Amino acid sequence: MTSGGDAPGMNACIRAVARACQYYKLECFGIMQGYEGLINDDFIVLDARAVRNIINRGGTILKSARCAAFRTKEGRAKAWNNIQKHEIDALIIIGGDGSLTGGMIFQKEYGIPVVGIPGTIDNDIFGTSKAIGFDTAVNTVIQAIDKIRDTASSHNRLFFIEVMGRDAGHIALNAGIAAGAEEILIPEQEQGIENLIKTLKYGKKSGKSSSIVVVAEGDKTKDNVYNLAQQIREELPGYDVRVSVLGHIQRGGSPTYFDRVLASRMGIYSVEILREGKSNVMIGIQLDKLVLSPLKDAIKGKSAINKNMVRISKILSV
Ligand code: F6P
Repeated sequence: MTSGGDAPGMNACIRAVARACQYYKLECFGIMQGYEGLINDDFIVLDARAVRNIINRGGTILKSARCAAFRTKEGRAKAWNNIQKHEIDALIIIGGDGSLTGGMIFQKEYGIPVVGIPGTIDNDIFGTSKAIGFDTAVNTVIQAIDKIRDTASSHNRLFFIEVMGRDAGHIALNAGIAAGAEEILIPEQEQGIENLIKTLKYGKKSGKSSSIVVVAEGDKTKDNVYNLAQQIREELPGYDVRVSVLGHIQRGGSPTYFDRVLASRMGIYSVEILREGKSNVMIGIQLDKLVLSPLKDAIKGKSAINKNMVRISKILSV
């Protein structure tokens, strides 16, 4: 199943799981709408041909949902009935930490083996350097910023560009560096509006005529990007300030080569480790090697922001 926010590459992962099952002569079902489908008995057969022509597609053919009913004991009991009815031996869950938490609780209550595969554009999962969808999202963001830069530079404007990342600044930091942002505001660092003003003033003095500030959704500098922009207008009246919120375009689109290959590797590995009798783990990637960590660690931990990348962004925007 895919669960939580969709991420580009989820389809490539579904395809890999289905094909690996066929290869190893195992029966594979897809559960529709994440935990909703598990509770409502919404299953489809996923043989090798059912997953043709999806490796290049964003979103998820299994659809996804954030399911409140699965948080209740009654909801999970219904889900367990359906698991027994279809004689399911193991669950492979592609999603973020909320989705993996559901899997861990279910495994504890009913003993069903669970394997988690990290899929979230936010990339905020401990135990993996990359989650499926992150690479595509960052590429989508830099394409958008490159376009905005044309207007910023033609009109000598200051742009605040809000990117996704409710609790994590990975998209903002990586896209900000790749797209040449002057300043990057992320939830992991209290930056303060005074520092931002200082940077902008310094930039102008040193000859910059336009500026791009990338703001992660969850940044703490101000409660939202429009208020932040308004405050800068008041503090720096000489600036022609605009706001662009990229929103859900970051979640969609055809996955990059990286996400397709990562998803394919993780999907196959999930079936292989279940065959070896391993479960209750999340698959991650570290230094290009697939690794396993206990589900509880993956859920508890946070993927820390790379401090060196913060340093690099400062040097580059001098
Ligand atoms: O968790 C991924 C994410 O894209 C966050 O960055 C964002 O805050 C959230 O999903 C948006 O969720 P929804 O699509 O439910 O509004």
